[in-house]
Amino acid sequence: MASFRGGFLAVAILSLLASAARAQLSPAFYATTCPNLETIVRSVMAQVVAQDPRMGASMIRLFFHDCFVNGCDASVLLDDTPTMAGEKNAMGNMNSLRGYEVVDAIKSRVEAACLATVSCADVVALAARDSVSLLGGPSWTVMLGRRDARVASKDAANANLPPASDNLSSLISKFAAKGLDLRDLTALSGAHTVGVAKCSSFRPHVYSDANVDPGFAMFRKRLCPTVGGDANLAPLDPTSPNRFDVSFYRDLMARRALLHSDQELFNGGPADELVRLYSSNGGAFDRDFAAAMVKLGNISPLTGSAGEIRLNCRKAN
Ligand code: HEM
Ligand SMILES: *[C@@H]1O[C@H](CO)[C@@H](O)[C@H](O)[C@H]1NC(C)=O
Repeated sequence: MASFRGGFLAVAILSLLASAARAQLSPAFYATTCPNLETIVRSVMAQVVAQDPRMGASMIRLFFHDCFVNGCDASVLLDDTPTMAGEKNAMGNMNSLRGYEVVDAIKSRVEAACLATVSCADVVALAARDSVSLLGGPSWTVMLGRRDARVASKDAANANLPPASDNLSSLISKFAAKGLDLRDLTALSGAHTVGVAKCSSFRPHVYSDANVDPGFAMFRKRLCPTVGGDANLAPLDPTSPNRFDVSFYRDLMARRALLHSDQELFNGGPADELVRLYSSNGGAFDRDFAAAMVKLGNISPLTGSAGEIRLNCRKAN
């Protein structure tokens, strides 16, 4: 009887361990089921970024906006339905987030190679990594095995995506809520070394903030009148808009951030020291950024039999 119980316990523990192992992401998740996955994603992204470097930036942001809303589950890619207000029309995404058709292009190549095997969430994670390295930034091993959500939430997107008006304490608490610390926040914000923002996102900063270089403010006001021109675009890092480097941190030290939220990282507060470090130490930035992207990619993934492998990233199966 005792040995029967012991055997039962051992089996129970083993099966618990097995399901815990299944719930972990792994770099080799598709090694046998879709061995060419990473080559496919890389080749599409290489073409896309060569043609439109900003699209690399847009794919990095897409990954962030996916992971910050109910975890990295590709919920951001779901179109609205008559019964569901999705994330595409949430405040931070509407008329701003882009790259959906790039995901579609990658996904259809991946489906042709490995039918109903690879999640949209993993495609986004790989595309973001490739974008960073194609724009000259670091590379890292992407953990895989995420599955796709069947639902999206506009309300969750509005509640979780930080706006450019946020101050440092509010950025810190929004990142802390996702298990990301000040170092992760400061390193991940370095993604603003590429891409652009709309006049409506940076107008309050260049017109009303105290902590802005006056020459820079005047330069940006020309592109962004007090009324009108809301959709006019300016680079987040004017020094090298398409280069994934540390000049974003140098901009911050020169009080030439485009967004209020970015300048908050260098405003006499607790992130100043990290901004100084990254501005002069590209190796430290590369390491911390890559590590923080892995952490970002680990936010509440659906694994095992949760969720599904969407065939069309825009709708549930
Ligand atoms: C720390 C809080 C953050 C805030 C408040 C913020 C806010 C913004 C805003 C307002 C824009 C411009 C949107 C527009 O005007 O259309 C933007 C663009 C961008 N963000 Fe962030 N962001 C944050 C963090 C991040 C993170 C963590 C990443 C990625 C790791 C990221 C990647 C990007 C990229 C690459 C762009 C340019 C996209 C493009 O050109 O299409 N951001 N962000
Ligand atoms: C930061 O913003 C929050 C929310 O808007 C506000 O409650 C808080 O007082 C602000 N903190 C500082 C230090 O300005």
